[in-house]
Amino acid sequence: MELKTIEKKWIEALQSRYACKRFDPNQKLSPEQIDLLVESVRLTATSYGLQLMKLVLVENEELKEQLVAYSFGQEQVKDASHLFVLCREKSLNPDHFEAHIQDISNTREIPVEELEQRKNYLSDSILSKNNIDQQVWMEKQIYIALGNLLSACAIMGIDSCPMEGFIPKEYDRILDLESHNLTSVLAIPVGYRSAEDTYALQKKVRRSTDNFLVKI
Ligand SMILES: Cc1cc2nc3c(=O)[nH]c(=O)nc-3n(C[C@H](O)[C@H](O)[C@H](O)COP(=O)(O)O)c2cc1C
Repeated sequence: MELKTIEKKWIEALQSRYACKRFDPNQKLSPEQIDLLVESVRLTATSYGLQLMKLVLVENEELKEQLVAYSFGQEQVKDASHLFVLCREKSLNPDHFEAHIQDISNTREIPVEELEQRKNYLSDSILSKNNIDQQVWMEKQIYIALGNLLSACAIMGIDSCPMEGFIPKEYDRILDLESHNLTSVLAIPVGYRSAEDTYALQKKVRRSTDNFLVKI
């Protein structure tokens, strides 16, 4: 079947993206590009639409530099134009559900009283999970946001590197994430590759479709 232009572009973008190891520190993304990337994350689907996550944008060069030591020496976090850190809520409380219901009420013009049952259901079922289950559940959703951000970068011709290779506790301290009730989960430097990044030339390694797709 012949693919339409947009679908072709989408797949080509995914083929050409790669985990960039060396960024050109002199090439900066524009505020408009950053806004579009933020929007791609903000629009991420989340369980019940609760969005128990936030996106932190690190623009401060000194802070980016400090983070290298807590990223196992990975210099992408300093050299990239911008560093995104995807964070989950550190702890959950009834206010999270109250705020979500208020958003629905304002956006859809529904009286909050009509949403009371929904609020109680969400609050009771989620707050009754233990801390670890809550964390795992929130973090799974952060990986969906990561996918959206990587794809948005790819289609916009922006280089990126998904990173789990850092020490969350130290990122939280340096970026003072606790004051926002946040804890870091993933770091994603974005910008443009350095001409010296040899990873850009390597062929993409993926399982063959035969060894990947199970048709039943
Ligand atoms: C969740 C996640 C964490 C990763 N952490 C790192 C990391 O800390 N540093 C790094 O250089 N690459 C990291 N990568 C990149 C992967 O190694 C890379 O995506 C994989 O080898 C496939 O290569 P490609 O993305 O270039 O196609 C990570 C990727 C994912 C999805």
